[in-house]
Amino acid sequence: MAATIKDTVSNLVGKMSGHSEASLRQPSSEEFEQLQKKYVDAGQGQVFAFVDELSSVEKAQLFHQMNNFDPVRINELADTALNPAKADEGPISLEPLPEVATASILDSDSKDLQQWYDEGLQLVAQNKVAVVLMAGGQGTRLGSSAPKGCFDIGLPSHKSLFQIQAERIAKLQLLAKKSSGKDAVIPWYVMTSGPTRKPTEEFFQQHDYFGLAQNNVFIFEQGVLPCISNEGKILMESKAKAAVAPDGNGGIYQALLTSGVREDMRKRGIEHIHTYCVDNCLVKVADPVFIGFAASKNVDIATKVVRKRNATESVGLILQKNGKPDVVEYSEIDKETAEAKDPKQPEVLKFRAANIVNHYYSFRFFESIESWAHKLPHHVARKKIPCIKPENGEAFKPEKPNGIKLEQFVFDVFPLTPLEKFASIEVRREDEFSPLKNAKGTGEDDQDTSKRDIMKQGQRWIEGAGGVVITEDEWTGVEVSPLISYGGEGLEFLKGREIKAPAVIEKEE
Ligand code: UTP
Repeated sequence: MAATIKDTVSNLVGKMSGHSEASLRQPSSEEFEQLQKKYVDAGQGQVFAFVDELSSVEKAQLFHQMNNFDPVRINELADTALNPAKADEGPISLEPLPEVATASILDSDSKDLQQWYDEGLQLVAQNKVAVVLMAGGQGTRLGSSAPKGCFDIGLPSHKSLFQIQAERIAKLQLLAKKSSGKDAVIPWYVMTSGPTRKPTEEFFQQHDYFGLAQNNVFIFEQGVLPCISNEGKILMESKAKAAVAPDGNGGIYQALLTSGVREDMRKRGIEHIHTYCVDNCLVKVADPVFIGFAASKNVDIATKVVRKRNATESVGLILQKNGKPDVVEYSEIDKETAEAKDPKQPEVLKFRAANIVNHYYSFRFFESIESWAHKLPHHVARKKIPCIKPENGEAFKPEKPNGIKLEQFVFDVFPLTPLEKFASIEVRREDEFSPLKNAKGTGEDDQDTSKRDIMKQGQRWIEGAGGVVITEDEWTGVEVSPLISYGGEGLEFLKGREIKAPAVIEKEE
């Protein structure tokens, strides 16, 4: 299995061992010929079409890049992704997850919520909780050249998404310390990819790791896969380099192994892991309620979901499909299923658990990655991929999709998990989910909606604590620094005070 992983995905191993492109070992002519033959035999000989025009450094670069992939396996992946096997013709049964595996912040007993919070905070205080951030995506819809986490959504403080998340970790460490009297550490593992690693590392260095201890922040890199033409051929970005793309957020599992993250977790005695997407400005990083909920259910995977707004909202749903936990896309269910009402609560949809890619894992589950990571399918993402023309090596900038990227999805592991080891908790969308997906001006999931949702949440918190927010516009709101409050707590000092929006609460003064 390890061989499959190594042969399929190129990851950071070369970079970790300190090779710069210029210092790459020169392959012998025999080695080069052998590799070239492997590609020719697999029908992918075009990757070496311009080798006679390359300098020795470029030749070494091409050799090492292509040596990281197995062309036969790439062909298999592309073939399966482009020509998926027909789904089983048998009937498909869709049901919500069993009641015993679900809870909702919206209608849970406050005693249960408090118990999960206390239990989760205790686990944080015992240094058993870690966080993995998925930040390897290229953010094409947002259109920013920097990684998404560096993005300034326009808050009065101009904090980036990375900074907001880092400060929530810092605050939670303090809350845990306050409850136990001992220092608490939540290690933060930041998954990047070829395109996002360097700028992410530089951003963290420039900002001094946002006040977190550098030895508790690990920036690692997921694998990449070659981009493939519509005809199944590996596309070349230049004469010396194949076009590659991150292997999807499902690449996280292999990357946890190859980067040494799982080993580090083991050494630290981590038992519970929170995983989330970089673009959610409201994410409650390492949320004690979520950790306590999942730990008390003794499951291997838990997910946070938000309530689907209406029957036509375009969101994936978390449910059970043929008796297994799964995610079903909105396009895969018929109108009747989408509109079905919950027999116990006829005012809400039966299938309402919208997937927000916010997960809990037990470390025990990560122990088994080798036995299932290779089973996760690769999906096709049709993209515009800049490349060179195979016939003459001229640069080509396509105006419409000219090829595919192969991506694994992080949630494809769900059906491999027994139903009794899976749980889900519904959270309030306005408190926990506001993704940054689109360019400014789109009006949906863009920087203005992200900013609005943080500012409105701050206002709700202040009003909840007895403060008065004076505002002329309901969009304005107040930014509350995560260093002051993780989830609305600790704002009693604002009781009876008037705050004119927009404002930032950065200090307890
Ligand atoms: P999206 O699928 O929304 O992709 O990622 P994206 O890169 O942010 O944006 P588009 O689609 O190119 O516009 C959801 C989450 O998964 C991470 C992203 O960084 C984001 O947190 N992701 C995605 C990875 O970590 N690796 C990948 O290969 C793809």
